[in-house]
Amino acid sequence: MNNPSEREIWQKWRNQFPVTETYIYMNHAGVAPLSRRVREAMAGFIEDATVNGAVNAEDWAETAEVCRAAAAQLINADPTEIAFMKNTTQGILIAANGIDWQEGDNVVTTAVEFPANVYPWWRLKERYGVQTRMVPEQDGRISIEDIAAAIDGRTRALTISHVEFASGFRNDIQALGELCRERNIWFIVDAIQSLGAIEVDVKSCNVDILAADGHKWLLAPEGAAIFYCADEKREQLINTNIGWASVVNPRDFLDYDLTQKPDATRFEEGSYNSVGLYGLNAAIDLLLDIGIPTIETHILELTAGLIAGLEAKGYRVITPKKDLERAGIVIFESAQHTPAEIYEMLHAENIITAERGSGVRVSPHFYNTTSEVERLLEVLPVF
Ligand SMILES: Cc1ncc(COP(=O)(O)O)c(C=O)c1O
Repeated sequence: MNNPSEREIWQKWRNQFPVTETYIYMNHAGVAPLSRRVREAMAGFIEDATVNGAVNAEDWAETAEVCRAAAAQLINADPTEIAFMKNTTQGILIAANGIDWQEGDNVVTTAVEFPANVYPWWRLKERYGVQTRMVPEQDGRISIEDIAAAIDGRTRALTISHVEFASGFRNDIQALGELCRERNIWFIVDAIQSLGAIEVDVKSCNVDILAADGHKWLLAPEGAAIFYCADEKREQLINTNIGWASVVNPRDFLDYDLTQKPDATRFEEGSYNSVGLYGLNAAIDLLLDIGIPTIETHILELTAGLIAGLEAKGYRVITPKKDLERAGIVIFESAQHTPAEIYEMLHAENIITAERGSGVRVSPHFYNTTSEVERLLEVLPVF
């Protein structure tokens, strides 16, 4: 942001976020605030449903399709590969329960996944005798060699977060996707900690299935999630989420016919969270207007400044420092204060972060500024 017009444009985007009037909000890895654009879209839907009931339901359906196209654009997919879900977990459950498991198969993941990407896989043990192999991290990183070593002839899937919630480590999904392609195993990505903050390209990374709820980096409401299943993998995934909306003629209510839809909407079992999709659509629209490369560059600048400032004050930063090894999350520890104490000190100054594990997690988005990062550093005590 070097020249005045650039600053003005940036300020315009920042003004989209009323939260900035009260807080230095840096908890996008938790739950993000909504923009004015998202609020207006959702309020518009609520007004319509209040005044007109479902008379304009065709518009609702049209908005869902606009949102699907935008979600596809965001991850470089085709709209036929996108379904809407209620959250990330639902997408992971569809993946975990849909693979044609055989007794003795295994799935590889890390030992530091959010439980959304653990329990759906653990559950397979009692049902099918499937083992979950959990690769540990080392110094806040997960090594590709360790993952490769955990894969054997009975491995059917690798499931991993693009960005780890408790360290901020960005897994190299391009390299992992290549590994999965070579070994001919499913590649499943929990993208809730990356989508909206950094580039996610399902095609160049050979991702088979991806899931991400809206309420973090997408700046959308909770309960409106994106699910991606590659066109060429759809028929191989047993659909365990079939409902009335999954079939080719969903509105021939009494003419029962279980022929599934030819695209990813077969995984959508029933009615939409329409108000959520209005919000999600507006949120993706905002991100695409600004551009993910611009957002990513700014977030990485903020987090780099944060890391340098924290280290200068004597804090231990858990998150890897290289740009390619992190995204929007920075986690740090203090030798003198508990995470709860640090969190409270910041909260008292209206700086919103989160306690995670042994540290404090700071997760700024594109509308945060370097002066907000400086303010956060100023509030933290020096050793
Ligand atoms: C990596 C990761 N996956 C999933 C979730 C949440 O999943 P869901 O959208 O199902 O609530 C979180 C929330 O903190 C997360 O950090």
